[in-house]
Amino acid sequence: MTHTAFEQTLAEAVALARLAPSSHNCQPWAVHFDPVIHCGYLAIDNRRKLTGLPSLEREMLLSCGIFFHFLEQLICLRGYQLHWRWCDEQEQQVLAGEDRALIRFMPGPEQAHQATAFATLSEQLQQRHTVRSAYRNTQLSEQQRNELSTVLKPYPVTLGIYYQQTHGKTLAHLTQTYAGLDFANKAAWRETYSYIRFDERRQYEDGFYLHNLFGPVSGGFKTFFKVAFHPHLSGLNKLLRLPTKMAQGLAELVETGPHYLALNVSKEGDEALFRAGLGLGALWLRLQQWGWAMHPISVLVQHDSAREALAASLSQSELPVFFARFGEPEQSGSPAPRRHWQSILVSDTHSLTKSTPTQRG
Ligand SMILES: Cc1cc2nc3c(=O)[nH]c(=O)nc-3n(C[C@H](O)[C@H](O)[C@H](O)COP(=O)(O)O)c2cc1C
Repeated sequence: MTHTAFEQTLAEAVALARLAPSSHNCQPWAVHFDPVIHCGYLAIDNRRKLTGLPSLEREMLLSCGIFFHFLEQLICLRGYQLHWRWCDEQEQQVLAGEDRALIRFMPGPEQAHQATAFATLSEQLQQRHTVRSAYRNTQLSEQQRNELSTVLKPYPVTLGIYYQQTHGKTLAHLTQTYAGLDFANKAAWRETYSYIRFDERRQYEDGFYLHNLFGPVSGGFKTFFKVAFHPHLSGLNKLLRLPTKMAQGLAELVETGPHYLALNVSKEGDEALFRAGLGLGALWLRLQQWGWAMHPISVLVQHDSAREALAASLSQSELPVFFARFGEPEQSGSPAPRRHWQSILVSDTHSLTKSTPTQRG
């Protein structure tokens, strides 16, 4: 194995894994690789992570887990097993700058490539989008249910699946009750609003356009949204009852299901959340393989009151860390912006304390 061959594989894999979903599309990940000693770190980039609510720390770990699941699958199909372990607290500080190391990885010896499987996975990653519009009423078969449980077996998570017929009304009611919390917390809404991209002609590296959230929208709607939901005008939007109307719109969508899933983490701590993210990545990909999609409804797990009410509605004793509606979408979603792979992959020479971000902007 030449080092260069693995570095090329890593760069190619980062360029595809960056299509992973993340909260607000903030893409909080960084990959450091030392070409001399031939090992690297996956890190949370503290400049990019969401901080508007304490619970978003969980979502950052889940998002990094999804990203790393995609990365590891891609690298494996290119012939390299990745050996990795969770970093202890001291090692988490080993990287220069704002990056917190999560795991340290090292490639094994090169083995056979699986070119066809790589091409298929690459296609699936490019086709996968969050879908926030209507889903068909396609039933989830027993076999599909079992597949989802099997996919999650290696990870410290439990999966609960629920149906529109039995839970749609209750979940819609919960959404109507709690979705306004998105706007009520000033810091959280300011942060969310800062990720909304109003100018569709401009290329951004993160966040979402209004059409990613609502489908095609008119110029008038964009201007209205931009002004009416501006964090400085919270008095005006409350007066117009906009948070209530937005919550109602989301609740109507939630009521249509057709299926819901909740993930619980069966262990405490950041490592378990990261590993849950690996599982969530595997689950999201399996849905994509069926031509299905997911619409996370995170407001129900971001605030204690909503989370407790959600657990009670699902008859769960534990509090979920992730909740989504899912099914076969009527229309596919649209691509959201992404960072350039070169801003994610950092070439470091050890000790990694003196990193030289040669490529990173
Ligand atoms: C942990 C997590 C939580 C998310 N929560 C929400 C959510 O509450 N509402 C929503 O519409 N999308 C949510 N998303 C989806 C992201 O907004 C989406 O992944 C991102 O904008 C990139 O778009 P894409 O998935 O279409 O590539 C979440 C994604 C993750 C990984």
